[in-house]
Amino acid sequence: LRDTLDRTTASNQCAGYGATPNNQVVGVGSGSTIVFAVDRLAERVHQEKLNIVCVPTSFQARQLILQHGLTLSDLDRHPELDVAIDGADEVDTELTLIKGGGGCLTQEKIVAGCSKHFVVIADYRSNSKALGQQWKKGVPIEVIPMAYVPVSRMIAKCFGGEANLRMAVSKAGPVVTDNSNFILDWKFEQALNWKEVNTAIKMIPGVVETGLFVSMAERAYFGMEDGSV
Ligand code: A5P
Repeated sequence: LRDTLDRTTASNQCAGYGATPNNQVVGVGSGSTIVFAVDRLAERVHQEKLNIVCVPTSFQARQLILQHGLTLSDLDRHPELDVAIDGADEVDTELTLIKGGGGCLTQEKIVAGCSKHFVVIADYRSNSKALGQQWKKGVPIEVIPMAYVPVSRMIAKCFGGEANLRMAVSKAGPVVTDNSNFILDWKFEQALNWKEVNTAIKMIPGVVETGLFVSMAERAYFGMEDGSV
């Protein structure tokens, strides 16, 4: 994935997305894959003395930006981004994504939604024909803590499957997001119309955001087993 950022920049230039990779506001995603992109971004920023401003999608992304000596900003100062780069748990052939394996889906969706271009980087195991074929942990849904039981019941009743509270591994109790909310992992039973389902779930009182990213990503790059992209 080391070359991904270069290729992304190059292909964006070819597509007329920007005359130069300099002077860009970049949304920085969360997870394990984004670390490679930030490493490379920082290398280029420092070597080529680029003027790049970074908007984080999580506490983790904020730390990554700071640790790499990159310029940290936020949506107050930069509400319009040139590009957001992020990982994904699963990507289908329509570029519909499941995100939120790391619990950062809400800020990730906000930042992606503020970006002119949203690019996904992932390893080949996230590349899927249909959602649910690769990522077996379900669709993450961020909920207000006091609503997790009714939301879970409503999702199961309306769409089938089950939505379970995500529990922490190294502490007792549930995972708490950067927004102080809980996460439900909804294991669905069958392929559905994800656009409709996403809208319907968001209408349930107590739901903050879903990990379904529909019609947001414009391209996805997969790191293959043999090192190619
Ligand atoms: C964070 O909550 C997620 O949306 C990640 O972007 C996603 O889980 C991909 O993570 P990896 O890059 O670790 O696979």
